[in-house]
Amino acid sequence: MTFHDPTSYADLTQGKINHKDFHIQIDFLSRTLDIEATYQTQQPIHGSLYLDSFKIEMKEAHVNGRKLEWDFDASDELLGERLHLKGFDGDSSFTLKFRTSPEARALQWMNAQQTAGGNYPFLFSQCQASNARSIFPCQDTPSVRFTYSAEVEVPKELTAVMAAEQARGPEGSGKFFFNMPQPIPSYLFAIAAANLDFRDLGPRTGIYAEPEVIDAAAWEFAELPPSFPFGGMENPRLTFLTPTAILGTRGQVSLVTHELAHAWTGNLVTNATWQDFWLNEGWTTYAETRITEILEEKDIADLNAVHDEKRTLEIMKRVGLDSPTTCLKVPGDGKDGDSFTSILAYTKGCFFLKECEYAVGRERFDEFIQKYMKSFQFQSLTTEGFLDFLKTELPEVFEKVDVPTWVYKPGMPEVWHKPQSHLYDEVEKVLSDYEQGKLPTRETVKDWHRYQILSFLQELPKTTSVEDCKYLEDVLELDQRNDDYFYTYFYSLCIASGYRDVMPRVEDFVEKIGRMLYIMPIMRSMVETGWARDRARPLLERVREKHHPVTIAALEALLKKAGL
Ligand code: BES
Ligand code: ZN
Repeated sequence: MTFHDPTSYADLTQGKINHKDFHIQIDFLSRTLDIEATYQTQQPIHGSLYLDSFKIEMKEAHVNGRKLEWDFDASDELLGERLHLKGFDGDSSFTLKFRTSPEARALQWMNAQQTAGGNYPFLFSQCQASNARSIFPCQDTPSVRFTYSAEVEVPKELTAVMAAEQARGPEGSGKFFFNMPQPIPSYLFAIAAANLDFRDLGPRTGIYAEPEVIDAAAWEFAELPPSFPFGGMENPRLTFLTPTAILGTRGQVSLVTHELAHAWTGNLVTNATWQDFWLNEGWTTYAETRITEILEEKDIADLNAVHDEKRTLEIMKRVGLDSPTTCLKVPGDGKDGDSFTSILAYTKGCFFLKECEYAVGRERFDEFIQKYMKSFQFQSLTTEGFLDFLKTELPEVFEKVDVPTWVYKPGMPEVWHKPQSHLYDEVEKVLSDYEQGKLPTRETVKDWHRYQILSFLQELPKTTSVEDCKYLEDVLELDQRNDDYFYTYFYSLCIASGYRDVMPRVEDFVEKIGRMLYIMPIMRSMVETGWARDRARPLLERVREKHHPVTIAALEALLKKAGL
């Protein structure tokens, strides 16, 4: 099947890279990686090969003992620079020497003061969607997979980890060896280096953390640097997780189940382009709900589903019910891979797959899932490829479910199996009382589940009085619940409601937490609220050095759009 990935300069008719051998030296002083990489291709290359790169300083290129001509011959703010390698003569292997930029957008370099131990720096990567090209020139599209090996050198006090099989070099040598025998798309490349210890949790699981916090982190990762831009990232064999997910209540186990489910849905069967992002996240959210059904009571799974439905409607209302960004297959040929990233891919994608399950029953759907995984393992798939397979295997789905509307039309279809939850109904009652002027009592909300509190905060009117803000914070006991997500909603409400005294706390929150899901709504609320608007830019400048480049880029985009 042919398709075009607008987020990449790669031209796959030239050939595909299928293996890389890296030698990486990590230099914390200059905040750069010095890399020599030998690339293998699936078929011999003739003439030119285009690779994606971002602020890479190229030093040399060789093929078969001779020099290879190269040039950065196109550039774009989002795509980066096109590295044009020239003069291939049926070669299947070549070597590049280069250095990353201190502004590499995949890498966050934290200084020692930003870590729990305070004595050593900490580096980590985040490549999804299109940031791998800032570490090494590559065909940075999820439709190309490669295996790799890596030899990594770090200052000898530090430990390097990668999302791969690992073997330590001689103790104290600062050398680490990695091998990734399963072919991955570039966005699943991951590396970190820091003063790390390891604790086994089970035969196949364990935790890396700083020694100062490893014991605590084994049950509660709370003191790790909370600047990771996402809840989690499914780097194979080495999920990266935010410590904001560890609540001391096991209330966010679903984040871990989500990242681990990606081992199948995403890492094994991968979206071919970022327009097909829902294939990764919709399927993973579906898998997550199936696991939640087993790990938790049905009541909680139902509550979760209604909470997701409300979030979906809320987002669709904000961006417009007819906005193309609400389609599962996002149309357009935007160059920014991250612009296809939306919570709707998760929630609407999952609701669509549940409709497919309802249409044929769970037993048949489960057989279908097994066959789907087997048929497309280690491949990348477009939405159309998936729908073709669905039509062949489960034609009745197309009779009972309006598939084209679900996939290609904006908003939500009129008819579908909407979730029901009596735990959510309780919240709705308290919300309608509130709208009649009746405040909730401490007794009512005392035993509420996390998703009840989140749903309540999300569904409150957009503005209220400062007194009510204070009352709600107190009665919901937000300060004792150790859950930063509550503050995302709460601070957004406070800002919109003109609660000015809360601002120093808001600023500390945005400075401490880099998880985009948690800080973007707060910044959005600032930008949209007259009195707080002018404080957004200074706040961004204050946190610029503290957060990962992808977080800063997202905040920049938000402010730019608002004319700030
Ligand atoms: N792969 C995503 C994170 C991601 C998405 C990175 C888009 C870059 C671009 C990860 O699996 C994920 O979905 N994380 C969620 C948590 C999940 C439980 C919804 C997150 O970060 O909040
Ligand atoms: Zn995910």
